[in-house]
Amino acid sequence: MTNYQFPKDFYWGSASSGPQSEGRYENDGKGDNIWDLWYKEQPELYFNTIGPEKTSQAYTHIKEDVALLKATGHNSFRTSIQWSRLIPEGRGAINPAAVKFYNELIDELLANDIEPFINLYHFDMPVVLQKEGGWENRKTIDAYVAYATACFELFGDRVKKWFTHNEPIVPVEGGYLYGFHYPHEVSFKAAVQVGYHEMLASAKAIAAYRALGKIGEIGIILNLTPSYARDENNPSDVKAAQFADGFFNRSFLDPSVLGEYPADLIDDLRSADVLPSYLVEDLEIIKNNTVDLLGINYYQPRRIQARENPHEWSVPMPEDFFETYDMPNKKINPYRGWEIYEKGIYDTLTNIRENYGNIPCYISENGMGVEDESRFIDKQGQINDDYRIEFVSEHLKYVHQAITEGSNVRGYHMWTFIDNWSWLNAYKNRYGFVSLDLENDGKRTIKKSGHWYKKVSENNGFEE
Ligand code: BG6
Repeated sequence: MTNYQFPKDFYWGSASSGPQSEGRYENDGKGDNIWDLWYKEQPELYFNTIGPEKTSQAYTHIKEDVALLKATGHNSFRTSIQWSRLIPEGRGAINPAAVKFYNELIDELLANDIEPFINLYHFDMPVVLQKEGGWENRKTIDAYVAYATACFELFGDRVKKWFTHNEPIVPVEGGYLYGFHYPHEVSFKAAVQVGYHEMLASAKAIAAYRALGKIGEIGIILNLTPSYARDENNPSDVKAAQFADGFFNRSFLDPSVLGEYPADLIDDLRSADVLPSYLVEDLEIIKNNTVDLLGINYYQPRRIQARENPHEWSVPMPEDFFETYDMPNKKINPYRGWEIYEKGIYDTLTNIRENYGNIPCYISENGMGVEDESRFIDKQGQINDDYRIEFVSEHLKYVHQAITEGSNVRGYHMWTFIDNWSWLNAYKNRYGFVSLDLENDGKRTIKKSGHWYKKVSENNGFEE
């Protein structure tokens, strides 16, 4: 039997986001974001046509939900401040109802010894700004920094862990390459510009935070998806995997932690004629405003090979440089289809230790989505999600190993707390420690994994 004990003061928790949990509340002043807009335009795109207003209604369940956080062993919890709730028009007037809500939430968390980890941008561009081009438009950066500054000023006396973005590559992929986020364009050039503006916005928000003299840490949350070459001895496969790592991971990781863009990525983007427009002074801002803390989301790796055939699309795409391949005999989550490769979390943490100055980091998302989880409900109404317990514990073992070898990992947040609404997938994949019964007034029931997690947190680890 091995005892997996974690460092003192380890953060045990889970993550969610404002747009995925709060709900709408028409009369409380929230403006529309791109998910509200897209739902109005094309509701059929959303799984079972469930749109962003149908959430766990965290907005009206603060006390009940914080009690559930306690009951599932949380000493920390991540959510986000919805830009379009706080500043309904994207810039300008602040919504007092939003200030009241976030104040109450933060105070309730702290009163229960739960450290709030607050993220700013979680895919929720206010519509007014999207109509002006969203992240494609450099002016959005100023509006974002004003929103970030408002958050720091309003809540920074109590919130000590801030994050500028969640997964900034996802709006790039979803909105400008693969069609699963608004504005569902296909333009490699616009995609690169969007990613660059998000990155510059992050650096400027970090500068604004530090200028206010707030005592806390500020970082960014990145979905670091390790890219494994099909054949490590085949230089073409290795080069293809390097491009995928550069585009999907290092395009944010390097500027956020090291203050500069990777040279190989710049060369590749130049060769495709998609380098972004920028000002020389931007690079100084990025250099001088690296993060204190890195959040790492890890779900599954990328399996990469060199392109075998010329591309079939009419416009340049990142896939000009690589293609994914279906590795035989990989372990699969049977309820979601994604690969499960636990060692990927260890490889990612080792990479951060060896190549990124062992910057303080934490696992900010990791979790197992399951379709139709109701099939695992027992007579008492509890979901017996042993598969999730196994998923989390197997990943935690690798996190533990990385820590033993010197990685600077401060915590683990599972995705997610209460089953939440997820973009176009809505409630297709359930991830929570707590189930949400949409047919029964949003009733919450702790799953078996939630009870298990409480013990892990109380013992600061587990034996197996
Ligand atoms: C994460 C995102 O990458 O994946 C979350 O940060 C999202 O916002 C989660 O909900 C799960 O996505 P899906 O599509 O499997 O429900």
